Order: sequence, then C-alpha cells, then structure tokens
Amino acid sequence: MKRIITISSLIVFVIFFNRCMNESAINNKDLDDNMLDIVMYHDNLGTHLRYKDADYASWLLEGMDSTLKVVASKFDEHRKLEVPFEQSYNKLLVPSIDKIRVALGKNDFPNAIVAYQTLTKKCNGCHIDHNIDKEIFDWTDGNAH
Ligand code: HEC
Repeated sequence: MKRIITISSLIVFVIFFNRCMNESAINNKDLDDNMLDIVMYHDNLGTHLRYKDADYASWLLEGMDSTLKVVASKFDEHRKLEVPFEQSYNKLLVPSIDKIRVALGKNDFPNAIVAYQTLTKKCNGCHIDHNIDKEIFDWTDGNAH
C-alpha cells in the first residue's frame, strides 16, 4: 500500500513537472504523446477514487481535463480522426468529467466512480471505432493491470 502511494506520488510529480514544461513551451507533442499524459492522469485518478482521496482525485481530474483541452485546441485535424478532437471531447468525455467533478465536490465517491467507469468506456469506445489497439482500464476496482 505504502509503495503504491509512493510510486503514484512519483508519477504525479513527473506528470506535474512535464505539465509545467508543456505550459511554458509550445506543445509539440503528437496525439499519441498527449494520450500517454492523459492515461497517466486517468489511471491515477481511478486509484485515488478507490482510496477516497477527494483532494488528490480532483487535482488529477483537472490535470487530465486540461491536457484534454490542449488536445482539443490542437488537433482540429489528425490523420487518425475524421472529426476535430474537440467535437468528440465535448460529446463523449465532458459529460462524465463534469459528473466526476460534481460528485467529488460532494465527497460522493460511488457516483464519482460510476462516472469514471463511463469515462473509461468512452475512451475505449473511441479507440475501438478508430482501430486503436489500446485498452484503457478501470483502476477503481483494484484489479487493473
Ligand atoms: C476522439 C477519439 C479518442 C478519444 C475520446 C480518446 N482517444 Fe486515446 N487515442 C485516440 C487515437 C486516434 C489514438 C492514436 C494516436 C496516434 O497513434 O497518434 C489514441 C491513443 C491512445 C493511447 C496510446 C498512446 C500510445 O502512444 O501508446 C492512450 C494511452 C490513450 N489513447 C488514452 C486515452 C484515454 C485515457 C482516453 C479517455 C480519457 C482516450 N484516450 C480517449 C483517440 C481517442
């Protein structure tokens, strides 16, 4: 347990550092690099929802959302997407992200977790639709690999 917390704190630190660098420099990453940042936030968010840690979970949620917004503003078009990412973000991801945000504001972990699981399905749905061989896991159940 302690080791998991130490490792995830380390990961969060790396992400945070990375994000500061991103914000000061122009984001030159391709979509797959940004997706790797997003999944780190996503997976840690699931773990911290399981720990019922609202502060940390909120911080991770906002980190994930701001990275998604960078992607939305950057990828008007991409060889692997037929509509601007912003359109998919608004339609597929924003509703669940808003639900997690509201639930966390009320320390309502059961609803935050349900919304997280819906979000995870939407990530996977888009990957399946685009033949992206990347499965995103639900980290709230403690059995994800
Ligand atoms: C609009 C469709 C779409 C949505 C929604 C989406 N993705 Fe992706 N994802 C892609 C595409 C397209 C790629 C492949 C990018 C490339 O190859 O340049 C990808 C790739 C990835 C990868 C692999 C990156 C790599 O280099 O191995 C990860 C991880 C990932 N997405 C995480 C997520 C997570 C987490 C979410 C939900 C919060 C999500 N994605 C939502 C379209 C989407």
